Amino acid sequence: MPESPLGGAKILPVRKAVFPAAGLGTRFLPATKAQPKEMLPLVDKPIIQYGVEESLESGLDNLIIVTGRGKNSIEDHFDVSFELERMLAEKGKTDLLAVVREISDLMHIAYVRQKEALGLGHAVLTAREFIGPEPFAVLLADDVIDAQVPVLRQMLEVYEATGHSVIAVEKVPAESISSYGVVKVEAWKPHGFRGPAYRVLDLVEKPKAADAPSDLAVVGRYILTPAVFDFLETTQRGTGGEIQLTDALRALAHREPIYAYQFQGRRYDAGDKLGFLQATVELALKRADLGGAFRQYLKSLPL
Ligand code: UTP
Repeated sequence: MPESPLGGAKILPVRKAVFPAAGLGTRFLPATKAQPKEMLPLVDKPIIQYGVEESLESGLDNLIIVTGRGKNSIEDHFDVSFELERMLAEKGKTDLLAVVREISDLMHIAYVRQKEALGLGHAVLTAREFIGPEPFAVLLADDVIDAQVPVLRQMLEVYEATGHSVIAVEKVPAESISSYGVVKVEAWKPHGFRGPAYRVLDLVEKPKAADAPSDLAVVGRYILTPAVFDFLETTQRGTGGEIQLTDALRALAHREPIYAYQFQGRRYDAGDKLGFLQATVELALKRADLGGAFRQYLKSLPL
């Protein structure tokens, strides 16, 4: 077990990542009436695959996906598709065969069902028996983050230095701060991390701009110690009638240190229609096989 360079205490490695994907996706209706928003394609990959790849590139290959009713296509996507693979093999389409195989080959996935969409905090609690007494990551797949170093990897560097929970944050303009959980922080800079890190003093879910304790909004990446489960067990329904992860983190912050980490990367809220369009355009422009032709096309539009 590695030793924490800051605290000196032994720290447990993070091995598992939880993907809460049982939300109803109401912001994306009607597309999400009969298909999960996590399966909407960004260029040619479903949204959730970007998060899964980030997790694998960060060294976490033990994944737990929290699903709900109507989410079977997520399981099918990460499963082996014998018919498709046989057809591609017979037709000699080896490139496509590799693409399809890669998805199911690289990781161990467990699925757990959240019977009712009672909120993000409840979804994380649903994964408790798969996590046990060890630290774990949480990725909200609709926050797609394009980064040179995967954001989870960046956050693991902070965890590995402290042994405590780490929440990803991003500076957000005042007019949109009320859509986020917001952290109250104090400066904390003992190490040369890739981005600024802070000690969390408190968290507020969706504050009015005037009440926001900072301009640092919580986005969908967390590394959490298992102590959070005890707080989730007792968290009552909060904002929107849901069991909020933010409320449990608030309680956790009063028991043990939590750090906020301002990551390096470009985030898209792919669960929102405008954010989804921005992600589609920018990710397509970056693609070696599509970017050139797509750029030409965009330039030809009478904007
Ligand atoms: P969102 O706040 O984006 O909610 O959830 P949502 O239901 O998915 O989408 P909208 O707002 O209605 O359009 C944040 C994350 O938490 C998961 C979602 O799947 C998403 O990844 N979640 C939310 C659950 O797994 N269960 C819940 O009960 C609520």
